[in-house]
Amino acid sequence: MKVSVLGYGTVGKGVCDMIERTPGLELGPVLVLHSERSESFMITDIDEILKDSTVGAVVEAIGGESPAGSFAERTLKAGKHFVTSNKAMVADRGIELSALARSTGKAFLFSAACGGGIPFLHNLSVARKSDDILSMSGILNGTTNYVLDMMQSKGVPLDTALSQARRLGYAEADPSADISGLDSYRKIILACAVAYGIQPEGYKDIEGIAGFTQQDAEVISRRGAEVRLIASGGLNGDGSVYAFVEPRVFFDGMERAVRKNFNSVSYTGRNSGLITYSGQGAGRYPTASAVLRDLTGIEEGTLYMLPAECVRRPAVNDMEERYLVRCEASQKDRFITEEVWSEEGGTAVFVTGPMEVSRMHSLAAELRNSGQGIFFASLGD
Ligand code: HSE
Repeated sequence: MKVSVLGYGTVGKGVCDMIERTPGLELGPVLVLHSERSESFMITDIDEILKDSTVGAVVEAIGGESPAGSFAERTLKAGKHFVTSNKAMVADRGIELSALARSTGKAFLFSAACGGGIPFLHNLSVARKSDDILSMSGILNGTTNYVLDMMQSKGVPLDTALSQARRLGYAEADPSADISGLDSYRKIILACAVAYGIQPEGYKDIEGIAGFTQQDAEVISRRGAEVRLIASGGLNGDGSVYAFVEPRVFFDGMERAVRKNFNSVSYTGRNSGLITYSGQGAGRYPTASAVLRDLTGIEEGTLYMLPAECVRRPAVNDMEERYLVRCEASQKDRFITEEVWSEEGGTAVFVTGPMEVSRMHSLAAELRNSGQGIFFASLGD
């Protein structure tokens, strides 16, 4: 199968290299939008690919909602398979594009959009047919895991660690999507869409690591714990879905052992129990390997990851967690406090009683809107 690639950045170049090394695949023209380099295989007009009847599949590795979404639509309408690593675009338009793909009989696959090289979405799309997926959670952003690891194990400041993550090719073009938790959230809502045919909508209860300071790291480390950024998604008892992202404190547990740009993500099946995948969630070749998995899968007849009747529904995040909170001491009374870790210099660090996830996130937003700093993290094992 001849495959064209849209984009020649970190992922696009990795995909081109891997296509050239994979028997049965041949590299077609590569679309570049903003490149100073020019090779004979590079073109700048997507119509050259869409009109080329020898191209059977297109891989999109440009990133961002636009123009990637319209390129996907035009590719499918041109009768070619479409594979992407673009979480933002699939979260935005995946349901409609997957329906379009089904109507044309062509593939719409996005393994690389969640978990980099880890075959999480792929295996989830298989597992959901034979088991009930009860819940999913894990570390789904390599950049923030790298930053948290550097801050907590080496004392590197957040900004320095983030610059390193950018140099290593882990971060998004706009790394605020990593740091804010948005990238992890997009990935978990894609996992919900694959597992349940319900994509949570509303983009709420997303807390990243921007508020995490070196002082927070030290306080938590003195208690023998570490923080990781965890995305959670699953099915509520009433058939609605939940999805949220927040830092979590680990005194123990396998997430604590996840270092650098690695991801670790689990699902619990009613029959299978807990199944965990771990591997590199970001970077050129790990991500490209997931794209190649989709391309080779097409040849074996795997064309879709989303169930045929996939819909959007609001997330219902009303389960309860206990939280570690650091905020101004004057605000402590807004929480039910179970244990105070420290209170000095006008700052309090304490553990709350069980409170609804949505309530914690909205209280944090209220404090920030009134100009106050806060860090919170749910308490894990
Ligand atoms: N910026 C993303 C991450 C890339 O750090 O995980 C892979 O999706």
